[in-house]
Amino acid sequence: MKLWAGRFSKEVDKKTNDFNSSISFDARMFAEDIDGSIAHAKMLAKQNIISADDGEKIVAGLEKIKAEIASGELVVDPNAEDIHTFIEGELTKRIGSAGKRLHTARSRNDQVALDIRMYLKKECDALEKTLKNLVKVLAESARKYHDTVMPGYTHLQRAQPITFGHHLLAYAEMFLRDISRLEDAKERMDVCPIGSCALAGTTYNLDREFEAKLLGFREPCANSLDGVSDRDFCIELASVLSILMMHLSRLSEEIILWCSWEFKFVELDDAFSTGSSIMPQKKNPDIAELVRGKAGRVYGDLMTLLAFMKGLPLAYNKDMQEDKEAIFDAFDTVNVCLSAFIPMIETMSVIDENMKKAAAGGFINATDCADYLVSKGLPFRDAYKATGELVAVCIEQGKTLETLEIEEYKKICDLFEDDVFEKTDLRKCVSERKTYGGPAPENVIEQAKRVLEKIR
Ligand code: ARG
Repeated sequence: MKLWAGRFSKEVDKKTNDFNSSISFDARMFAEDIDGSIAHAKMLAKQNIISADDGEKIVAGLEKIKAEIASGELVVDPNAEDIHTFIEGELTKRIGSAGKRLHTARSRNDQVALDIRMYLKKECDALEKTLKNLVKVLAESARKYHDTVMPGYTHLQRAQPITFGHHLLAYAEMFLRDISRLEDAKERMDVCPIGSCALAGTTYNLDREFEAKLLGFREPCANSLDGVSDRDFCIELASVLSILMMHLSRLSEEIILWCSWEFKFVELDDAFSTGSSIMPQKKNPDIAELVRGKAGRVYGDLMTLLAFMKGLPLAYNKDMQEDKEAIFDAFDTVNVCLSAFIPMIETMSVIDENMKKAAAGGFINATDCADYLVSKGLPFRDAYKATGELVAVCIEQGKTLETLEIEEYKKICDLFEDDVFEKTDLRKCVSERKTYGGPAPENVIEQAKRVLEKIR
């Protein structure tokens, strides 16, 4: 039976009912829907809009329904129009006329706006915890590899020496920003829409402040039209999640590269990689690839939300029912990605000889060689040119700056002495890069500590 059956003389067409129904995806908000209704009943009773007795019956009935759905004893009817309809119907079936009083001074429009906010606030808290765990794994790993030298890249060309710990901490910074964006979004969505009713508030003497506090919100929303039709928080969260997925995808991409035989900087644990059905030698970084792929899916959710909201007149329109599948999918996708990604990173082993080999082969100490000449009094531009010529000689002779004879150095610039080899030693190059924010091992230790403090 429909809540709105009074005005209609026929049952709704079955296919239309299925099309119209949101139960398949809003049933997951049953606990929030019930908690919202319990607060509403308490407020109605406190304001003498319903009797204390009816209020108590409603609360007890709803508690029971919540426990039964949670345990599986009560199955949500897949033919119901939505979770709000189902729960109110079930309550009325059980407690009779008191149940019929619950929807006084309320509409499904403010009810659904409330449920999504409550549901998403919980999702934000859970995700924040998970992200902190990811940051912790990265910072601890950074500490472990604080002096593991690797090439840093620009244009995916070997550029200057860094430490693997420093590279990992760059990602820790990104995820820290994701956490702070999540907290910001949560703060802004912390207003309670219930009491907006269908769109225009109500003539009943509600205590919206009381109900908002009971439900853990900072305050009631200030405009009833906005209360029922605002979905900014879904869009904002989807955009936070999109940025997060972009970060995960970049790290995934690097892991995929690092796992290739061309790099072989890391090896994934067998438990977090997969094989090929035909090529026996293969060990594939499928998890990282899937995470990279799923970033596109979360961007799609963001686009869905932005697109269906853009032309909607105030206040509620049924188009808004599309919000839930998109934002739930975005959270589900991020959660499932992180559940595989974090242990993959945690168990990944690092092949430091290969990092070192790559660092030694790419002239990544050329800037340091130029800086050496600068320390001997040459202007940087001249030092840069001389070092460029040196690199050309090395390439011609199949050598590196480390293996080229000092005589060859002197042919290009007589300021070169034997101590150039010490100054351009990769370890030295990296340990001297101790400007704040730089890759020196001692900095990495400091920064890892700072990061770990931030997530405490
Ligand atoms: N299932 C609807 C949604 O998700 C609930 C609100 C329905 N309100 C209405 N007047 N039809 O948006």
